Amino acid sequence: MISDLVDSTTTPSPFEPAPEPARYGAPRRGIDPDRTKSWMRRALPIVAAHKVSFATALSVSFVSLVLQVEIPQLLGTDALNKAVVPFVEQASRPVAERLPASHFEHLLLHYVVLVLILAVGAGICGYISRLFLMTTAYQIEFDLRNIIYSHLSRMSFSYYDRVQSGQLISRANSDIRSVQMYLTFGPSILVQCLVAVVAFGYMLATNVALAFVAMCAMPFIYVAGVRMRAVLFPVSWLIQSRLAEVATIVDENINGVRVVKSFAAEGQQLGQLAGAARRLRWAYVKDADVRAQFTPVVQNLSQLGLALVLLFGGWLVVHDHLQVGTILTFSFWIVMLQMPFQMLGMMIMMGQRASASAHRIYEILDEPAEVADRPGATDLVECRGDVRFRSVTFRYTPDGPPVLEGFDLHLPPGQTVALVGRTGSGKSTVARLIERFYDATEGTVLIDDHDARDLTITSLRAHVGMVLDEPFLFSVSIRDNIAYGRPDADITDIEAAARAAGADGFIRELAHGYDTIVGERGYTLSGGQRQRIAIARALLVNPPILILDDATSAIDVQVEKAIHERLETLMAGRTTLIIAHRLSTIGLADRVVLVEGGRVVADGTHAELLATTPLYAEVLAQAAELEATEAETAEAPGAGEPEAADRRGGRDS
Ligand SMILES: Nc1ncnc2c1ncn2[C@@H]1O[C@H](COP(=O)(O)OP(=O)(O)OP(=O)(O)O)[C@@H](O)[C@H]1O
Ligand SMILES: [Mg+2]
Repeated sequence: MISDLVDSTTTPSPFEPAPEPARYGAPRRGIDPDRTKSWMRRALPIVAAHKVSFATALSVSFVSLVLQVEIPQLLGTDALNKAVVPFVEQASRPVAERLPASHFEHLLLHYVVLVLILAVGAGICGYISRLFLMTTAYQIEFDLRNIIYSHLSRMSFSYYDRVQSGQLISRANSDIRSVQMYLTFGPSILVQCLVAVVAFGYMLATNVALAFVAMCAMPFIYVAGVRMRAVLFPVSWLIQSRLAEVATIVDENINGVRVVKSFAAEGQQLGQLAGAARRLRWAYVKDADVRAQFTPVVQNLSQLGLALVLLFGGWLVVHDHLQVGTILTFSFWIVMLQMPFQMLGMMIMMGQRASASAHRIYEILDEPAEVADRPGATDLVECRGDVRFRSVTFRYTPDGPPVLEGFDLHLPPGQTVALVGRTGSGKSTVARLIERFYDATEGTVLIDDHDARDLTITSLRAHVGMVLDEPFLFSVSIRDNIAYGRPDADITDIEAAARAAGADGFIRELAHGYDTIVGERGYTLSGGQRQRIAIARALLVNPPILILDDATSAIDVQVEKAIHERLETLMAGRTTLIIAHRLSTIGLADRVVLVEGGRVVADGTHAELLATTPLYAEVLAQAAELEATEAETAEAPGAGEPEAADRRGGRDS
């Protein structure tokens, strides 16, 4: 109940992080943080974490391939040369010297059975190696994805101010895939090449001259593969960046759909998307064109190898240096070997793409979180709610203008302070610095006399509740949205928080009450309803420091008044910073602080400021004017409120 909520502020307990069930299995290893190493060495720990399944995949695949290399040997050199050719040859001998046909049939059957056994063996090994290889591949992908997401979740606001979410989504998907492919299929192609060496050894053992003739087309196949890669690489790079471009446009269009529609700018947006899609299509078609040019070349080069083996092998057979079955064996091997040589070229191409992808992924991972726990940071416990800004200067970007400059402010425990100033004067920035969304560029923000930078971020943020003017709701039930900061809260507490925020009434009128699922970002609710849920969410956590940043801007004056009455009770014993334009909201505060040009220019009660600072009256008048234009149908802005503000101002002065 609300009384419980208030009570627990006065009896603080040691900091305990909110229970948060792990949703992703943590990856076993991260990437090597040493930036001087090559990208593959940096990725090695991730691969090494799955070495057992990877090594199994590679060794079993080696066995499977060796078995496959044996098959042409059995078919040509053994079955044909030892069973079929002698039978044909003995036709020229006298009948008495001939062996019975059944002898050759048995021999043939023997080899056929052997071939079948090898084929089945190779098939089983192929299954096992493929299964293990793919398992490893997806494990690596899973790890990379979790490493990136957990890193992103640690990143500071300044990072999200800079990056485009479409780029991030694209990187997290296609770049992870291309790195994963190379890390797993690269070694597997190398195994195939190793098997090619084994096969070449077999060829040399069978006939040295024919072995060289058979292999003479292979370097050309490799060179064609490398050529193809050289042409393809820039194209595939282009595809990646254009995919990201399309993703960014789609992402912004979907997230900004309300703006797009309100300006009837669908046509313009579609045009923009079509342009990006056209550029992407061009890159894809170019890619297909290059592949189509090179594939026949590579294929026909291996046909050339076959023709040469037939020519030279046939000559050897005619001159009795070779048995005819060996030609068949060599032909099989050529067809088998063409693959690894072609893939070797492809592997180099994949390697370049993977290297580019890896660098983009590392770019994300190497970005340090600007706001992070210091070594030896302590937890904020038993927070009294004392907040102090000591000559704080703050810039959003190192070369940007200072938003706050020599900013001094003290919020004693339990006081309610209104921060007033023109738009863009830095009020929200003050709030963000208390929560350590950003760290002060110069000077110090002190919470209970601790430098905020010496406190752990989780414990600090657990003690500061913040409600923004444009609150974000998740696509879950209203109950879960309110309980976001305290997932274990029971329904009576949730209802009490909702009542305090003036949300209980409208929630009960919804079809499913507290179980109503809100649409994406809460767009099925009105702006004021969303704000009230956000206030309830902050109140439920019951933080000793509460920040309301224009948190009631979309709530109409009557409802706001009712909320204020309840908030007054709730704010007791709690340090509250109210950022507001409305007089009615300012009226809630014990003290008003006027901010201008990144500094505090006036500090006192509403009445004092009104009397001494012309700028204050000016800012209030501007805000009232703005509100009047915004709410054409609403009742006269500020009616009755100055009274409330005066009451408060008077009380304190
Ligand atoms: N993420 C950001 N990156 C860079 N500059 C920013 C960022 N957020 C705000 N600013 C700049 O800092 C200044 C102060 O912004 P702030 O949001 O604190 O103003 P505010 O007083 O809260 O204004 P409002 O009353 O309109 O909410 C503005 O000039 C703004 O352009
Ligand atoms: Mg603001």
